[in-house]
Amino acid sequence: MTAEYKVHGSVAVITLANPPVNGLGLSTRQGIVDGLTRANDDAAVTSIVITGAGGAFSGGADIKEFGTDKSLQEPNLHSVIAAVENSPKPVVAAIHSVCMGGGLELALGCHYRIAAPGCSVALPEVKLGILPGAGGTQRLPRVVGVEAALNMIVSGEPVKSELLGSMPGQKLFDKMAASPEALAAEALAFAQSVADVRPMPLVRNLPCKHPQGDAYFQFARNMVKGMSKNFPAPAKCVDAVEAATKKKFADGLLFERELFINLMWTPESRSLRHLFLAERAASKIPDVPSDTPKRDIQAVAVIGAGTMGGGIAMNFLNAGIPVKMLEMKQEALDRGIATIRKNYEAQVKKGKLKQDKYEQRMALLSTTLSYDDLKDADLVIEAVFEELGVKEAVFKQLDAVMKPGAILASNTSTLDVNKIANFTQRPQDVVGLHFFSPANVMKLLEVVRGDATAKDVLATVMAMAKKIRKTAVVSGVCDGFIGNRMIEQYGRQGGFLLDEGCTPEQVDKAMEKFGMAMGPFRMGDLAGNDIGWAIRKRRYTEKPDMKYSKTADLLCEKGRFGQKTGAGWYDYVPGKRDAIPNAEVVKMIEDHRASLGITPRKISDEEIVQRLVFSLVNEAAHILEEGIANKASDIDVVYIFGYGFPVHRGGPLNYANEVGLFNVVQAMNRFAKNPLDDAAFWKPAPLLAKLAAEGKAFN
Ligand code: 3HC
Ligand code: NAI
Repeated sequence: MTAEYKVHGSVAVITLANPPVNGLGLSTRQGIVDGLTRANDDAAVTSIVITGAGGAFSGGADIKEFGTDKSLQEPNLHSVIAAVENSPKPVVAAIHSVCMGGGLELALGCHYRIAAPGCSVALPEVKLGILPGAGGTQRLPRVVGVEAALNMIVSGEPVKSELLGSMPGQKLFDKMAASPEALAAEALAFAQSVADVRPMPLVRNLPCKHPQGDAYFQFARNMVKGMSKNFPAPAKCVDAVEAATKKKFADGLLFERELFINLMWTPESRSLRHLFLAERAASKIPDVPSDTPKRDIQAVAVIGAGTMGGGIAMNFLNAGIPVKMLEMKQEALDRGIATIRKNYEAQVKKGKLKQDKYEQRMALLSTTLSYDDLKDADLVIEAVFEELGVKEAVFKQLDAVMKPGAILASNTSTLDVNKIANFTQRPQDVVGLHFFSPANVMKLLEVVRGDATAKDVLATVMAMAKKIRKTAVVSGVCDGFIGNRMIEQYGRQGGFLLDEGCTPEQVDKAMEKFGMAMGPFRMGDLAGNDIGWAIRKRRYTEKPDMKYSKTADLLCEKGRFGQKTGAGWYDYVPGKRDAIPNAEVVKMIEDHRASLGITPRKISDEEIVQRLVFSLVNEAAHILEEGIANKASDIDVVYIFGYGFPVHRGGPLNYANEVGLFNVVQAMNRFAKNPLDDAAFWKPAPLLAKLAAEGKAFN
């Protein structure tokens, strides 16, 4: 049982005890009902308190139970709340720390609520693609008002208890405790004080109306429509709250239930739930236990104040960690600092950062031209030119000056982290920290684990990533790590599609309609086409049998490197990011196609999407099989947070699971028969072929 029962004088206390956040799983639900029965059967008990152990009242329904038999078994949350409402003795919710989703719905079913200040209160179900399914949409509007409730339900954002408690006319909390520490005693006293009050109040009996009725809900629908492209849940939240104002309580509850069940089965909700768990699972490394000791990171050094170095430094400054930047020349340092200032000033101008915060952050930044000044740093991140010789010189100097136990990291995007580690006498302290550009904005951090990287180094950088608000995923050492190794295949398919009859615009539009933040050609223009060109030139000698379309090379030969040169696959007006199709580029593609003797064919959006996305999937399967990624969900996290893969698709492997791996393999077999494509590539990776044959999915 994951709920405890104790009696304090005349008050029975039921304490939810299901770490980490007292999710309302089957055994906890059963525990609540049993506790209520015991309390009501005990003549010495006159009132009941429900509270939560540890750091939460309750984080809501147990997300890990969704989709399993346990989530359907009685007592379900509705039955638990009904048992609370029907209790002949008053039930008081003593709320602290976190009160979310089903946790808040449980509290709303209680006769009274007392809350500690500082508690995060939310109905966050919409973030999982569902809506509150245990009366939240019917009860919350009755205690905080229709508009405040709808805002909370549609956004899913937490609101602090003291703010809710101070809202005029609010009936959510009957009492605010003086402090979190005082909550337990105040809840007991409150429960005693209401023991004999009859009739007992119930939220369901309160009225629910909006003065503007239909007009308000129409307005709300329009707002939600604009904001929630690709997701059905927000509009259903509006329907449910409207029902609270128009239907009898019991009918509203049934209506909410039906919407909840329908949303639960949507692919969008499955994707969001997958991502919720995937993001958290990414921080866990199978052979690095969570209690692995971590090194202390109080001061950071960054080598190289260029595009990446500046952004990397900002992450630490934002988290209040001092940074020292090293460059070869003062001018480079000055340029780097000016860029950081410019970035912060833009945030101040937009009202996203307060002037004093900006100054505090800049005060944490210092510069140097001497390696001796870095010796006290706990972590140093190198972001110099992408040349092994340059990295060698840097790491040898770092090895000579850094204090023992300091972590030496490289931001290399393509080089072998094992080679870099072996430039030092302490390869166990070396790790790859592959930030994505712009490094102060992009959430993804690939942590590249070298052969010798120590476990405590990994544990430390994973914890540090959380501190600087990055989503970190561990990758083994290989060319391109997880993300760029996959994107290379995606880019190759993009090239073949041009050769066979597409325009860059057609491919980009198809992918953007699928939901990608940017199609492959707009992405190339943003990243710089010269980067891919350099990689291909290397490949032509390393892997002469690998097939590539030549169009991208022809484009680069014209100097069309993308946005930075004002011209790439598209044209760009200085200072703007709008991609303007260019007739000469289209002609260049057509001429090249003609020179290969290819008659263009009309290619459907469906084929474009399948070829590009399944190329990611096949490469991902190889990556998994080789142990470069620890788990399939890590790959989805990389693509969602680093490559603009649509959230409602849940990542490439979740998408492949949704399509069905059997169907994915069938499509690959079809693509392999296309003489203009690369048949060898489309041979399904053994892992994919096995899973598809067994009717299984990536997990
Ligand atoms: N059920 C099960 N586990 C949960 C959970 C939940 N509702 N919420 C969080 N957890 C787990 C996480 O998976 C993680 O587990 P792990 O340590 O094994 O990885 C652990 O709690 C800690 O989570 P975080 O890393 O997110 O910790 P934070 O302290 O940063 O945040 C939180 C805590 C604010 C509770 C955050 O986890 C959160 O927002 N959780 C989601 C809450 C939610 O969506 N609740 C609604 C559920 S749906 C529902 O209630 C349906 C109902 O209407 C019928
Ligand atoms: P950049 O050219 O903008 O900056 C590199 C900086 O390093 C320059 O300011 C240069 O003066 C400095 N530098 C060079 N040699 C040095 C040395 N020996 N000592 C001190 N400073 C030195 O390059 P960028 O784009 O910042 O790339 C840096 C690293 O980050 C590379 O390894 C690159 O592969 C990687 N990377 C780049 C990404 C990008 O999108 N630009 C994305 C992810 C990783």
